[in-house]
Amino acid sequence: MRFSQLVTALPLWFGSVNANQSWAGWAGLGDQTKWSTPCCSPNVVDVDIAIIGGGSGGIHAAIHLKDADASVSVIEKKDQIGGTQKHIPTLPPASSLTLVLSFLRTQTWSSGIPIPAPDDQQQAIRAAAQAYTKNVLSKYGWVDQGFLVPDPVPEELYLPFSQFAENYNFSALLPTIAQVDWYIGNLTTLPALYGIKSLGPGLLGSVFGEFILSSTGNSRSLYDAALKELGSSVLLNTTILNIDRHSNSTGVTLLVSQPGSAPKTIRARKLLVAIPPTLKNIWSFDLSKQEEAIFSKFSSLGYFAGVANVPGFNSTLTNMGALTPFNQPIIPGNHGFITTGSPNEFQIGGGFDSGDVTDEEGKDLVRKNLATLAAVGAVPADAAHSVTFPYTSNHMPYNVRVTAEDIKAGFYAKLLAPQGSRNTYWTGAAFSGHNSALVWNWNEGTIVPGLKKDLGLK
Ligand SMILES: Cc1cc2nc3c(=O)[nH]c(=O)nc-3n(C[C@H](O)[C@H](O)[C@H](O)COP(=O)(O)OP(=O)(O)OC[C@H]3O[C@@H](n4cnc5c(N)ncnc54)[C@H](O)[C@@H]3O)c2cc1C
Ligand SMILES: *[C@@H]1O[C@H](CO)[C@@H](O)[C@H](O)[C@H]1NC(C)=O
Ligand SMILES: *[C@@H]1O[C@H](CO)[C@@H](O)[C@H](O)[C@H]1NC(C)=O
Ligand SMILES: *[C@@H]1O[C@H](CO)[C@@H](O)[C@H](O)[C@H]1NC(C)=O
Ligand SMILES: *[C@@H]1O[C@H](CO)[C@@H](O)[C@H](O)[C@H]1NC(C)=O
Ligand SMILES: *[C@@H]1O[C@H](CO)[C@@H](O)[C@H](O)[C@H]1NC(C)=O
Ligand SMILES: *[C@@H]1O[C@H](CO)[C@@H](O)[C@H](O)[C@H]1NC(C)=O
Repeated sequence: MRFSQLVTALPLWFGSVNANQSWAGWAGLGDQTKWSTPCCSPNVVDVDIAIIGGGSGGIHAAIHLKDADASVSVIEKKDQIGGTQKHIPTLPPASSLTLVLSFLRTQTWSSGIPIPAPDDQQQAIRAAAQAYTKNVLSKYGWVDQGFLVPDPVPEELYLPFSQFAENYNFSALLPTIAQVDWYIGNLTTLPALYGIKSLGPGLLGSVFGEFILSSTGNSRSLYDAALKELGSSVLLNTTILNIDRHSNSTGVTLLVSQPGSAPKTIRARKLLVAIPPTLKNIWSFDLSKQEEAIFSKFSSLGYFAGVANVPGFNSTLTNMGALTPFNQPIIPGNHGFITTGSPNEFQIGGGFDSGDVTDEEGKDLVRKNLATLAAVGAVPADAAHSVTFPYTSNHMPYNVRVTAEDIKAGFYAKLLAPQGSRNTYWTGAAFSGHNSALVWNWNEGTIVPGLKKDLGLK
């Protein structure tokens, strides 16, 4: 079965390997004898830790492990590391409602009716945030540290989030969450665990306080610096052809391919997986039955981000559902057209309830929203046709999750239990929650200490 998946993936890389290395030559990938590649051939790399995924979790761990004198190899499928995120949330020193209010003062998408933010509404939001902090966050102190869900699982964690909010008197906060925490899922049906996860103490503090921005205003500089530090340990444009974690009990062996060069073997003492662990994404792994049973539970949302250029338009619009619960925008939907400061250029983000989103669907959604806005005169009449997309980034699968029933059945205890077994550790948003502060807490609290201990590093 793994073999047929390899064949399916063939067109992705076949054209780029040395033409003299026929497919037949690699057909025996599962054959253990292939793994005793002689030492020191230029196509064999020995490292302490192979890291799959050069995003937030993978790069952060790579830097920490390198600082501990471990050798690493980071395998990234795209031609750059890092994501498209702008803000790094953290615990704030101050508290202000500026961000929230700037959202509330904008107009609804569909009708153009301004949503007022009278004083009593601001007060209700503040009171709800206080109730949430006092009664919910105090109870679930692990929220920013990982999916450390207690066993047995408290029933309220798999209630719908809006009902949970009612029980704890913080419903007035939900419209704010719908605007700033984009896109976490339908607040009416989302299991409470994911609602809380999406608004832990760190992010709540940032929403009511401030975000940390990089001094250049561009978080890419963080990853540029990391790339400089990691140098040739980062393999870009790289496809994983095979992973073998069983024929060598003291290490793992990966076969990877880069355009224009022959496949490379990476032998590592430990493997750190830092990509969304949906079955579709980890098809090349030698999953155990237990791992397969766990990861097959995951489904996800979709998120399409980028920059749209809309000629003749230059103000910021935010999307609010006029008639939906908590004014949550209708999904699929764009969260807004947020001006970037360059003329006619807007940050866009499109939320989808399905993880299978094509780039074309992401762009069509923007065009559809522009047509709606043009009909009420909010953007130029031809905006849906004149829009162009200087930069886009498809983030599917986004918010990898399981059902309320699975949460109830103790999914997260099962997910976290295999850390370290088969020489493999797992990090990223699926294990910690979707923002970099959470991913990095998880790395620092669990992953990096575990790897260092296993490898005898200080
Ligand atoms: C548009 C957008 C804006 C965001 N803004 C913020 C923000 O301002 N602040 C914040 O804290 N968080 C933000 N987030 C959330 C944050 O980006 C994620 O929570 C975080 O990146 C998750 O880290 P990760 O390591 O799990 O995944 P990622 O950072 O997505 O990293 C995964 C990496 O693995 C690579 N990869 C995937 N599959 C494979 C494969 N098979 N082989 C090799 N490589 C593979 C990907 O290309 C990617 O580089 C934002 C997310 C989006 C989509
Ligand atoms: C394939 O091998 C032949 C003979 O060894 C050699 O002449 C040719 O350059 C090789 N082709 C490639 C693409 O490496
Ligand atoms: C990765 O591939 C892109 C084209 O897809 C290319 O422009 C870029 O130079 C490549 N980068 C590396 C480091 O191979
Ligand atoms: C919520 O408010 C109601 C009515 O004011 C009160 O009876 C209840 O104790 C509050 N619940 C919590 C969890 O604070
Ligand atoms: C097993 O893995 C370790 C760690 O990468 C490596 O040093 C060793 O050479 C591997 N053994 C074989 C037979 O590949
Ligand atoms: C935005 O558009 C309006 C109306 O077309 C124009 O008056 C204004 O100068 C523009 N502002 C910027 C910053 O381009
Ligand atoms: C969320 O789901 C509920 C229940 O199915 C539905 O009534 C509501 O309209 C949905 N919200 C949005 C924004 O679509």
